[in-house]
Amino acid sequence: MAGKLIFIAHLLLLPFLSHTAAANRGGIAVYWGQNGNEGTLAATCATGRFSYVNIAFLYIFGSGQSPRLNLAGHCDPSIAGACNFVSDGIRACQRRGIRVFLTIGGGVGSYSLSSREDARNLSVYLWQTFLGGGRRNSTSRPLGDAVLDGIDLDIELGSSLYYDNLVRYLKSYSIYGRRVFITGAPQCPFPDRLLGAALNTRLFDFVWIQFYNNPPCQYSSGNITNLVNSWRLWTSSVNARRIFLGLPAAPQAAGSGFTPPDVLTGQILPLIKRSPKYGGVMLWSKYWDDQSGYSSSILASV
Ligand SMILES: *[C@@H]1O[C@H](CO)[C@@H](O)[C@H](O)[C@H]1NC(C)=O
Ligand SMILES: *[C@@H]1O[C@H](CO)[C@@H](O)[C@H](O)[C@H]1NC(C)=O
Ligand SMILES: *[C@@H]1O[C@H](CO)[C@@H](O)[C@H](O)[C@H]1NC(C)=O
Repeated sequence: MAGKLIFIAHLLLLPFLSHTAAANRGGIAVYWGQNGNEGTLAATCATGRFSYVNIAFLYIFGSGQSPRLNLAGHCDPSIAGACNFVSDGIRACQRRGIRVFLTIGGGVGSYSLSSREDARNLSVYLWQTFLGGGRRNSTSRPLGDAVLDGIDLDIELGSSLYYDNLVRYLKSYSIYGRRVFITGAPQCPFPDRLLGAALNTRLFDFVWIQFYNNPPCQYSSGNITNLVNSWRLWTSSVNARRIFLGLPAAPQAAGSGFTPPDVLTGQILPLIKRSPKYGGVMLWSKYWDDQSGYSSSILASV
């Protein structure tokens, strides 16, 4: 029993120790799941370049809809067992100390929450289907029996309502040293029109802001002013454990906002790393990173 308690305390301390030990060193978060040609999850983590992986997307949920996951060409989650192999990748990542989250939302889909009860029902579904609840061998777990580290909110459509409730319900499942991480990917205009209220719960561990597709707050044609000003506003306004600079991994990965790696490492990172909340860089996506080599170019400076 004593041994078990010490083990739990150790798990709880780990995130804090790793941050003090590596002050001002960040990690790279990457989105995986929306292109079948980006390699497996296990291969993504085996590159050694990523500290966090978001599996995208649970793109249908809420308001009476049966939740649905899409993993593009990787596998078809609607066929029982077809994506169970993803569990091997989740465990392979977690063995390397890489946190793996499920992203709900995205730019294409059908989702909204109709009430607090709807938010609570979704939290129960997420807990039983992807996190530590429910029966591990249940056929209703589309990613198999592995337990994800948390839920990432990329709410780009519909209404802002009840995501604050969802976050509170999800966080309440953090028990016995197994923290349920809550992360989010707001757009850079502050405050985010859809995620703002949820962020105000102050329950987010990591917030990876999308500094793209939004000219007023992104890098453009040699000018870093808008991006850096926006970073300062976010880091002084949002209460989260760590804040990340979200960027497209290649020019074609977003409509606008691609930031050349030398601008990032030479001009932007030296400024934003001064923030005590700096957590690193988020990239959309593993597929585009494979095409550009972006993460390899920036890793040593992140
Ligand atoms: C929430 O789940 C309960 C139990 O399954 C169900 O009776 C209720 O209708 C659900 N509420 C909503 C808003 O979907
Ligand atoms: C699921 O796990 C339970 C408890 O470990 C076990 O009794 C049951 O036989 C398993 N069911 C399947 C379908 O593997
Ligand atoms: C960069 O953008 C800012 C804000 O739009 C503007 O005030 C500034 O003049 C620009 N700097 C240069 C060198 O173009």
